Amino acid sequence: MKIKYVITLVSIVLTAGIGVAQTVLDIRADKIGAGVSPTMYGIFFEDINYGADGGLYAEMIKNRSFEFVNPLQGWKAFGDVEIKTDGPFENNPHYVRLRSMGHAHKVTGIENEGYFGVSVCKDADYRLSLWARAPKGGTGRLKIEIVDPTPDVNYEVLARQVVEVASSEWKKYTSVLRSQKTLEKGVMRLVLEWQNDGMVDVEHISLFPVETWKGHENGLRKDLAGALCDLKPGVFRFPGGCIVEGTAMDDRYQWKNTVGPVENRPTIVNRWQYSFPDRLAPDYYQSNGLGFYEYFLLAEEIGAEPVPVLNVGMVCQCQNGAYAHAPVDSLCRFVDDAVDLVEFANGDAVKTKWGRLRADMGHPAPFGLKYVALGNEQWGREYVDRMKPFVDRLRSVCPDIKIIGGSGPSSDGDEFDMLWREMDRMAVDLVDEHYYRDEKWFLGNASRYDGYDRKAPKVFAGEYACHGSGSYRSAICEAAFMTGLERNADVVLMATYAPLFANKKAWQWGPDLIWFDNSDISLTDSYEIQRLFSLNKGTNVVPVTMDGRPVAGQEGQNGLYACAVYDKVTDSYVIKVVNVGNESQDLRLDLEKLPAKSKIKDVSRIVFSKDESVTGNRFKSSKTETDDVTGGVVVKGRNAELSVTLAPESFAIYRFSLSSRS
Ligand code: AHR
Repeated sequence: MKIKYVITLVSIVLTAGIGVAQTVLDIRADKIGAGVSPTMYGIFFEDINYGADGGLYAEMIKNRSFEFVNPLQGWKAFGDVEIKTDGPFENNPHYVRLRSMGHAHKVTGIENEGYFGVSVCKDADYRLSLWARAPKGGTGRLKIEIVDPTPDVNYEVLARQVVEVASSEWKKYTSVLRSQKTLEKGVMRLVLEWQNDGMVDVEHISLFPVETWKGHENGLRKDLAGALCDLKPGVFRFPGGCIVEGTAMDDRYQWKNTVGPVENRPTIVNRWQYSFPDRLAPDYYQSNGLGFYEYFLLAEEIGAEPVPVLNVGMVCQCQNGAYAHAPVDSLCRFVDDAVDLVEFANGDAVKTKWGRLRADMGHPAPFGLKYVALGNEQWGREYVDRMKPFVDRLRSVCPDIKIIGGSGPSSDGDEFDMLWREMDRMAVDLVDEHYYRDEKWFLGNASRYDGYDRKAPKVFAGEYACHGSGSYRSAICEAAFMTGLERNADVVLMATYAPLFANKKAWQWGPDLIWFDNSDISLTDSYEIQRLFSLNKGTNVVPVTMDGRPVAGQEGQNGLYACAVYDKVTDSYVIKVVNVGNESQDLRLDLEKLPAKSKIKDVSRIVFSKDESVTGNRFKSSKTETDDVTGGVVVKGRNAELSVTLAPESFAIYRFSLSSRS
């Protein structure tokens, strides 16, 4: 190695002497090292920025159960409409009573504004469902329409169905509406058609596109779930984030309130409704329609290991004093919740209570849960003291479950160090680290894990994002940093960018990975970086050095960052290089000591670089191009060399495939 180092230095000096400096990266193909965990790159979903209701969860009706603090928020009522509170669903008791106005030209009805509009597409079908009864007998007709409310189109009706309510008992009614037009900002109108003094009670009025992700009725938006699937995430952390903690104990995330029939899942205020005084979101609630069953199912469908995050009897520490947490000696129900969740995911479909519920909901087979995360961004002794009973009980009842502890909201400092020591002492399996930091931090931390204790708990980088000077530059800094995650794949087993989603019409936190409105989706530069790392993560780390040192933007390394892996599935080597500088750079990749008798077959290059033709797009200004560079490879015995030029501020992936060695 030393000899090689000297030769490399000499070659740099020589080439520099004649004015053509060429930097050499040494990749040791024979040193197939630590495994890259299949969970390495994943996603973290939180209902922030209208990520669930008004986002991934495809429900189109806002306040469908009349459970917002103002029961008619999101609705316009006309005629004789009364809010009642003795409905058929214990946890969502409100409903509306519509009374006939007793005159052919007077109308009673309600109109829903949807999430920033009820958006429909031409010729698409929408599944309506509602619960209703005619409490005094007789038959009431409910006319349901999707309407364009713009005055200059004269309230055009795009779709219409009539539901006849002929029972005095509560019943579910369903119908399908087909839209004649595409419209972004429609409303859904429901009108009572009844002469004389009839009345109809209506509850849980719901409208979904028929075409959802995998066609599920209580479904997810196909485009958004598809974008998650395209990332091929290995891990899926949910449901938060701060919403796990809640601003107060009552609005913490309680998974048991998110399973079973959707009609009876209690609606709660979303804590992001008022977290930023300058970005108040008064109509932001959690219907819990996207709950733990739907999360587990989605994780399974996109091939990711689920990582549920559980409340440990603590509320948000930024917003509360220590008094607000559940006392340490009364954590029993919280610990039960954790153990019951494992039963819900993995328990026997017949013999266990929670396993039976999972089966009743449509999934008799276990979900195969392997991880549980305890707490989100908790800190201090109060967290450590509360963790202990969870760890003890989970270890005794479900010893196969891997436990993830936290390290607080900071990426370093005394508190962070203390929590790491305590997590190590409790022998948790992984520690969750969060960093929302600037470009300098990301560029300076590609070596962060090089010095981590290999015997300590492993790392889950559960929330991170570069808060930099622009979408493209931030993505490049994230790529540079991620080479350090991959190089240390024996320490870092999981990493998930945050937040995942943001509704363009109403968001609280940025930057975010995927932006959307009702009809559109914008994948960011950071999304592309996540995708490229995930799809090219390989199976084992291979050393890559420059001047004998890890390539991590160190002194004298010209703003270069690199990592390399072997991929045993495709029998190929994958080298990732990031140039964060604003000059192009010539490089030579030396792939050394390839397996004897193997031959280089296909060499491809994927380049992520700035797309100068894109202006004014705040979400994405990059392009990704792939080409075959096999012709540029020089084979010398068991070594292969490829000379390349890296564009300024770019990320490149080189894949060398080997011919079969059988
Ligand atoms: O991702 C946004 C928020 O950042 C999360 O809810 C919280 O965990 C962190 O502070």
